[in-house]
Amino acid sequence: MTLQPSILFVCLGNICRSPLAEAAFRIEAIAAGLTVSVDSAGTGAWHVGEPPDARARATARRHGVSIEGYRARQIGVDDFFRFDEIVAMDRQNLVDLAGLAPRGATARLSLLLDHVPGREGHGIADPYYGGPEGFERTWDEVTVGARGLVARLLEG
Ligand code: 4NP
Repeated sequence: MTLQPSILFVCLGNICRSPLAEAAFRIEAIAAGLTVSVDSAGTGAWHVGEPPDARARATARRHGVSIEGYRARQIGVDDFFRFDEIVAMDRQNLVDLAGLAPRGATARLSLLLDHVPGREGHGIADPYYGGPEGFERTWDEVTVGARGLVARLLEG
C-alpha cells in the first residue's frame, strides 16, 4: 500500500454525494487507523465555490461530522496525476472521468461501490432532485463504500 494513499471522490455537482463520500471516508479511515489524503470534486462546474447542499450538510451533521467548510470544485487534469485513486459515484461520472483523463494519467478510476463485494458496477443515485430521505440513503451507501475502500487499501 502507498504510505499515505490519496483519494478523490467525484460526482456531478460536488455538493451532494462526493462531499458525503469524502466525510464518510474520513470517518472510516480514522476508525481503521489509516492515514489518507482525501478530497472531492465535480465533473460539472455549476456549483464551484459553493458549500455542500443544505440537505447534505444536515445529513453529515446528524452523523456527527461537519462538512460546512467544504467548497465545490471542478475536477482538473492535474487531479489525474495527484491522486492515487479517483472514485466516481455513478456510472455517468465514470464515463465522464474516462473521457477527461489525460494521456498517461496515473490515478486508478473506479466506482465507489466497486469496493463493496456484491455491489460492483452499481452507482449511487443522485439525491439532488428528491426529498431529504434520499440523503440518508446516500449516507448509508457512501458509508458502505467507504468501509469497502478502506478495507481494500489496508489489504494493499
Ligand atoms: P451531486 O448532485 O452530483 O451529488 O453533487 C447534484 C448537484 C447539483 C446538480 C446535479 C447533481 N445540478 O445539476 O445542479
